[in-house]
Amino acid sequence: MSSATPADPQTVLVVDFGAQYAQLIARRVREARVYSEIVPSTTPVAEILARRPAAIILSGGPSSVYEPGAPTLEREIFEAGVPVFGMCYGFQLMATALGGTVDNTGAREYGRTELTVSRPGSTLFEGTPAEQSVWMSHGDACSAAPEGFVVTASTDVVPVAAFEDDARRLYGVQYHPEVMHTVHGQQILEHFLYRGAGLEPTWTTSGVVEEQIALVRAQVGDRRAICGLSGGVDSAVAAALVQRAIGDRLTCVYVDHGLMRKGETEQVEKDFVAATGVKLKVVDASERFLAALEGVSDPEQKRKIIGREFIRVFEQAQAEIIAEAPGDQPVEFLVQGTLYPDVVESGGGTGTANIKSHHNVGGLPEDLQFQLVEPLRKLFKDEVRMVGQELGLPEEIVQRQPFPGPGLGIRIVGEVTRERLDLLREADAIAREELTAAGLDREIWQCPVVLLADVRSVGVQGDGRTYGHPVVLRPVSSEDAMTADWSRLPYDVLARISTRITNEVKDVNRVVLDVTSKPPGTIEWE
Ligand code: XMP
Repeated sequence: MSSATPADPQTVLVVDFGAQYAQLIARRVREARVYSEIVPSTTPVAEILARRPAAIILSGGPSSVYEPGAPTLEREIFEAGVPVFGMCYGFQLMATALGGTVDNTGAREYGRTELTVSRPGSTLFEGTPAEQSVWMSHGDACSAAPEGFVVTASTDVVPVAAFEDDARRLYGVQYHPEVMHTVHGQQILEHFLYRGAGLEPTWTTSGVVEEQIALVRAQVGDRRAICGLSGGVDSAVAAALVQRAIGDRLTCVYVDHGLMRKGETEQVEKDFVAATGVKLKVVDASERFLAALEGVSDPEQKRKIIGREFIRVFEQAQAEIIAEAPGDQPVEFLVQGTLYPDVVESGGGTGTANIKSHHNVGGLPEDLQFQLVEPLRKLFKDEVRMVGQELGLPEEIVQRQPFPGPGLGIRIVGEVTRERLDLLREADAIAREELTAAGLDREIWQCPVVLLADVRSVGVQGDGRTYGHPVVLRPVSSEDAMTADWSRLPYDVLARISTRITNEVKDVNRVVLDVTSKPPGTIEWE
């Protein structure tokens, strides 16, 4: 899947002037059921056009068009007859490239702003209110639109906040339609796609399933593949998809490091296998991991140890799989649940082997003698869930919240011991049960439960003094885990969790709530 191959029919290319915006835009375009991919802003225009995009979106970005060295864009992009939509920085580039005026006004406008629509029936704004809240972040302002454009909206500070040229199919808005705070943002984007660019909302993830099954068959042929299952959504969906493609020439390996949550290993061993019929090798390595972690409290050291042991166990399992059936076709392929954001962040879709190593205990050594099979490379997380659903995976696996590779090992502040793990597993299971019962699973991104194993506090239970540990509830809401806010959970739910944990989990006599956003905190405590 090289970036030089012609794009699928109806691909919208998002030119990336600032990664977080571009990814969000690409996701929103796909939510409108039009396929989209991201290209770096350094891509020559000729190359972008050679991919024959159905439309182009220029993202926002942190630069000012006046900064020396700020990313630029050749004018040809607007002259190829391809519909273009510029947003924020992309809008200003478009304005300057086509002869409009952008002033470095010094009048900075950040955050929620009221937009006044002057042409309510325009291509972009039809059916939306005359006044609408939009999200701005810029220091420059367009004071005169290029020739041929109609100005369709303004704000108190910015005279030209949107312009449109139906004849050339060029559109731009000064604000960010892709963010939640822009109330009619998705509608404006869809207007561009359907009305401006004339695209049809036909893209679905089921197309991806069929396409990927065919690609995997072609890639693997009659040889064999292995896949490490972590219990997480990505590896489960990747494995299920490859299993559909090559059947029992795929073997999955699940390393139980003993740091899983309650019921997780069983979920993989029973439910996943029942749903997919996948050939699974489970390695119980908990003793080995616990021994390696003995006496270690430092979070980074824990991560390193867990990562190292994981690789050793995995390699051993792989050697066994090969040895068990020496006459069979060779095992040449390794299935990975790499997602589109990983591809974009590591330099973008060039097809070179990119083994997830950052943040990932499944990060396997670079010298592995395998070719990678990455059937989810084009997908965002929510799309992976949809694919999982289509493949008939159990809801509990498909809707699972993210869980770190090193597992509960990085949710015990202090040394990891079997007793502490058992205790944390119980507390975590109670929190999960209550959150699910309250119907809050979809609202929160994840809710780590953390054991402060090195802290004790005095409590009273029954008639006696206790001297137990606190556990921390860390419910967060987030779109991508890069930033997060603490979730405002209902007090009665928190109260139930707290009461149950202190009653049911021995040695825990306090439950505290983490009310820190990210930044400055991270989601996990370690
Ligand atoms: P932080 O704590 O960095 O977490 O805000 C962001 C997201 O990454 C997960 N996380 C990890 N995932 N290995 C993983 O596979 C790790 O070492 C790791 N540390 C954090 C975390 O659960 C959250 O979703």
